[in-house]
Amino acid sequence: MRIDVRLAKKSDKKAFVRLALERDAGMNDVSSCYKPYRKAIGNSKYWARKFDKLVKEKRLLLECIDGKVVGLLQFSLDFIDYPAAYVELVFVSKSNRKHGIAKQLFSRAERIIAVKGYSKIFSSTNPSNRISLRMHKKLGYRRCGSIYGIETPSSREIFVFKNLQCPKKR
Ligand SMILES: CC(C)(COP(=O)(O)OP(=O)(O)OC[C@H]1O[C@@H](n2cnc3c(N)ncnc32)[C@H](O)[C@@H]1OP(=O)(O)O)[C@@H](O)C(=O)NCCC(=O)NCCS
Repeated sequence: MRIDVRLAKKSDKKAFVRLALERDAGMNDVSSCYKPYRKAIGNSKYWARKFDKLVKEKRLLLECIDGKVVGLLQFSLDFIDYPAAYVELVFVSKSNRKHGIAKQLFSRAERIIAVKGYSKIFSSTNPSNRISLRMHKKLGYRRCGSIYGIETPSSREIFVFKNLQCPKKR
């Protein structure tokens, strides 16, 4: 089995959109979400446009098993218009979960971000996502607050962070 974690390239578009749509299909009721977000869900054109931007900006990591894309992690380097690294989305295909794929994606993202000189990385999750909460804790992320009303008027997003080790100079 060949496992590969790498930045996405143009030829990954179809596989990325397929995985993003799998993620959307697994989402619970989105009828109460704000309109722009609701419109994006399940929309292949939205994801195709997003892909082009992420590839251009080198902000999308993919994990492949024997060439098949099974996981994705997208990050931002200017969260809330400030130089702060933030994990925007992480998703692993249902049939490939619990094999350490998210762990490897986070590890690669943290390395890339640390090399760029950031000493901290942020991420966030919905309070009802117990697996995500557990995953972040296991990967060394600590809670740093909540923001209300991002997804729906009454929703809460829990924010977490991790300090990054500055890579050793050779
Ligand atoms: C959350 C998600 C990305 C985890 O991906 P994964 O590849 O299965 O995770 P890993 O195998 O790397 O596990 C990392 C840690 O997460 C936790 N974890 C993962 N799956 C878990 C599960 N089903 N139950 C409990 N803990 C779990 C464990 O602590 C695990 O570490 P351990 O195996 O050493 O105990 C995946 O379940 C997913 O895509 N879910 C839907 C999208 C989502 O919720 N994304 C996160 C939103 S912020």
